[in-house]
Amino acid sequence: MTEKSLFIVKPDAVARNLVGEVISRFERKGFKILKLKMFTFTQEQAENFYGVHKDKPFFGELTSFITSGPVVAAIIEGNNAIATTRIMIGATKSFEAAPGSIRGDFGLGFSENIIHASDSQESFDHESRVAFE
Ligand code: CMP
Repeated sequence: MTEKSLFIVKPDAVARNLVGEVISRFERKGFKILKLKMFTFTQEQAENFYGVHKDKPFFGELTSFITSGPVVAAIIEGNNAIATTRIMIGATKSFEAAPGSIRGDFGLGFSENIIHASDSQESFDHESRVAFE
């Protein structure tokens, strides 16, 4: 089923010049890139984007990291985009993510975990509104 998803190349990956590497994996997989945007999250935008985590103990760390430098947001389209993208990015804790996944190949962090991707249609709707507003 053709579907859209969103991913964000996080500040750690942008700083490490991994933008092209990350985007090219989605292109090579067969996804079409519909939108691309480089920007720096404001505090308000970050709190809105990650609103689902607002009561978590790591919320401050999360928003402070995501606002710490430029990110690249993409909306992609292809078969089963939301679930397939989650498989491609790997486990949240980069140090446990399987080799072959994006986090597994490029990171060791938890907050600093290279990439975010929508995990449901609802999160895609919300996150794409915030990132591309
Ligand atoms: P992401 O996929 O962007 O979704 C929420 C983020 O919160 C997650 O990646 C991690 O970077 C971060 N996160 C989740 N749990 C923790 C935690 N216990 N400590 C620090 N960061 C966390």
